[in-house]
Amino acid sequence: MAKLNWGMVGGGEGSQIGPAHRLGAGLDGEFAFVAGALDHRPEQGRDYGQRLGLDADRAYGSWQDMLAGEKDRPDRVDLVTVATPNATHFEITRAFLENGFHVLCEKPMTMTVAEGEELVHLANHTGRICAVNYGYSGYSLVRHMRAMVARGDIGKVRVVVAEFAHGHHADATDADNPRVRWRYDPAQAGVSAQFADCGIHAMHMASFVTGQEVERLSADIVSGIPVRTLEDDAMVNFRMDGGAVGRLWTSSIAIGRQHGLAIQVFGETGGLRWSQEQPNQLYYMPLGQRLQVIERGEGNLSPEADRTSRVTVGHAEGMPLAFGNIYADLAEAIRARKDGRTMDPAANLYPRAEDGLRSMAAVFAVAESGKADGVWVDARPPMFR
Ligand code: NAI
Repeated sequence: MAKLNWGMVGGGEGSQIGPAHRLGAGLDGEFAFVAGALDHRPEQGRDYGQRLGLDADRAYGSWQDMLAGEKDRPDRVDLVTVATPNATHFEITRAFLENGFHVLCEKPMTMTVAEGEELVHLANHTGRICAVNYGYSGYSLVRHMRAMVARGDIGKVRVVVAEFAHGHHADATDADNPRVRWRYDPAQAGVSAQFADCGIHAMHMASFVTGQEVERLSADIVSGIPVRTLEDDAMVNFRMDGGAVGRLWTSSIAIGRQHGLAIQVFGETGGLRWSQEQPNQLYYMPLGQRLQVIERGEGNLSPEADRTSRVTVGHAEGMPLAFGNIYADLAEAIRARKDGRTMDPAANLYPRAEDGLRSMAAVFAVAESGKADGVWVDARPPMFR
């Protein structure tokens, strides 16, 4: 079976997230990395691309050159990953979708709700995939939590508690460091800092696992380091369309916390608990019984978990393999379209442009509620109201 052709915009040398994409996309041998505009500095991008094995004519100096160079090639890329800074996502993703490419865009997908709606419309209109990299939804046991909730193992969900709290911006003496400062500057970051950066991962995961969408929310936002204009800590209460109550804490000043993404779901007949730093164990408490530890890689957990578990039980898996599962979903989605068949339902779980849009609406709702002392606001994008 011929490999699918894959390209990247952003993710240049020394970038934070570029290597995880290359590892994830390469995991199954489904994608061949054939094109890239990897850096905002054309020469560095061309040079690094060739060192990574791209042909010289496909190691582009800019995304515009990549689009022009790829669009008429018979072997053009099947999927483009956009892993550039946030403010550039919309323009780049729109341009590639308009030219008929499938796109995997980093989060946050856009800077405004209107841009998010435009990408949803464009993806629907062109019939192209516009996926968003909520990569942590690719973890095998997160998929299993979703399957357990969907098949009723914990009954109707009452409460979901999501966290994404780290301590990497907690040093007040470092707050003026340009690499940190821009994140809390509205001119560069938009209306929200920590919620838009990390909180949306936790909120997406709450929706992904419960199968419910956020309808309204109330936010308490603060700048624990006072020179910051935007929040570095937020507590968000929310209500979901299936009746679940949601609680979300996100922080960048939680000293001692590392990545800090975790989720708990409490239903009428059981509870589930999972943490991204120990992703190979899922804690399951059925009502009135004893606590059970479900290990990733145990046989016959669920089709969704079995498909996304890559090494034998007892050997740790981690984040690049979760990203690899998003790429595996996308490979299956692209191949199903090429072959004119229905895709494997266990792979039909990659986050969509609609998820990216819902996140943007939540970001603006958090900013609005936070400014108004926690007043409850509608968190849905206008097109889903
Ligand atoms: P970074 O600043 O470390 O790297 C950005 C890269 O994009 C650099 O190589 C830069 O040269 C390149 N770049 C910038 N403008 C470009 C342009 N116009 N054309 C081509 N290349 C360009 O940023 P980082 O941390 O890797 O983040 C990138 C994106 O990934 C952000 O949107 C961020 O929110 C997201 N991210 C997502 C994560 C996830 O878990 N899904 C985790 C970390 C980041």
